[in-house]
Amino acid sequence: MDIDQLQQTLADLEAETTAKIAGITAIDELRHVESQTTGKSGTLGQMLGTIKDYPADQRGQVGKILNQAKGKLTGIFKQAGDRIRQAETSAEASKASTFDPTLPGVRPPLGTAHPVTLVQWQVEDVFQRLGFMIETGPEMETEYYNFEALNIPALHPARDMQDTFWMTNNMLLRTHTSPVQVRAMERHGPPLRVIAPGRCFRYETIDASHENTFHQVEGLMIDKNISIANLIAMMRLLLREVFGRDVKARLRPGYFPFVEPGFELDMSCLICDGKGCPTCKHTGWIEILPCGMVHPNVLRYGKIDPHEYTGFAFGLGLTRLAMMKYGIGDIRVLTGGDLRAIVPTPRLTGPTIKPESAGAAC
Ligand code: DAH
Repeated sequence: MDIDQLQQTLADLEAETTAKIAGITAIDELRHVESQTTGKSGTLGQMLGTIKDYPADQRGQVGKILNQAKGKLTGIFKQAGDRIRQAETSAEASKASTFDPTLPGVRPPLGTAHPVTLVQWQVEDVFQRLGFMIETGPEMETEYYNFEALNIPALHPARDMQDTFWMTNNMLLRTHTSPVQVRAMERHGPPLRVIAPGRCFRYETIDASHENTFHQVEGLMIDKNISIANLIAMMRLLLREVFGRDVKARLRPGYFPFVEPGFELDMSCLICDGKGCPTCKHTGWIEILPCGMVHPNVLRYGKIDPHEYTGFAFGLGLTRLAMMKYGIGDIRVLTGGDLRAIVPTPRLTGPTIKPESAGAAC
C-alpha cells in the first residue's frame, strides 16, 4: 500500500475506533478493543510489522506516520478510559448517598445459655442458699472413685448397670457424678454440704430419653444426726424451687450400692401430665432423683467415721430435669445442635407444662 493509501487507512481506523468505543461503559470491554487495535497482533500492530516491506527510502516516513497514528489512538483509548472510570466513581458515590446511617441495623438473634446450663444454675442457686459448696470432679475418672470407693467392688453386678467407656490408660469416662462424693469427703472432711454438677458418659443406645453424654448433679450432706427426713425435706424443696410450685412426686425403694437405704424419687411426667408418653416410658412417672442414706462403707472410704456421722446423697438427672422444665420431649434436641433449643423460642416438642399437673408432693 502506498503512503496515501496508508494515511487513508489510518484515518478510517481512527474514525472507526472512535465510533466503536463511544458506547463502551465497561473498562474490560475497552481494554479488549484496545488490544484488537493497537496491540501487537491488533490492526495497527500488524501494520507496524509491514514497515520492513516498504522501499528503504520510505521506511522512515512510514514509521513516523504509523507511530503518530499509534500515539493518537492511544490518546483516544486513554480518554475513553478516563470517561468510564469517572462514570463508575460517580455511580458509586450516588449509591453511597442512598446509605442512611440512621436506619436501624439488622439485629442478630440473641441466644441464651443452654437449657441444661440454665437448670444447673438454678439448682446451684437453691443449694448455695442452703449452705452447700459447689465441687467439680474429673470427667476421666479412676476405677477406684467411680466404682470401688462407692462400694461397687470389681465383679459386683452393679457395675453392669452402668455401661462404661473404658480408656486405654485403664481410666474411664465417669458414668455418674457420684465419684465426687468420696473426693469431697477426702478433701473437706465432715460436716459437709456439697453439690457436684457435671457431665457423665455411658455407652447407651440413643433414643428419646437416653444419650451417651448427659448431666447430673450429685448432692451430699454429712453431719451428725442426718436422717431420711432431712433428705425428703431437701428434695421437696429442690423440686418446688426448680418448678416454681409443688410437683407431684413419689418415693420408692431403689438399690444403689453406695446408699442404704436407697430410694428412687419419681416425679409426675410433665410432658404428658402423667398420662404416659415415650419420655416416661408410658408410666406417667419420671425417675428424676435417685437418693439415699450414704452407706457406712462409703463414709469409711472417705475417711469419715460412720458411728459419728451420717448423711444423705442424691444424683439428680439434670438433663432430664431440663426436659421436664422446658417441655422438651426428646433428649436429642439438647445435644443435636439445633439452635432453636438455645434461642429463647416457644418449646420445641411436647405440650406446655400445665399448672394443673401439679399434685401433692410426697
Ligand atoms: N450415681 C447414680 C447413677 O447415676 C445415681 C445416684 C443414686 C446417686 C443414689 C446418688 C444416690 O447419690 O444416693 O445411677
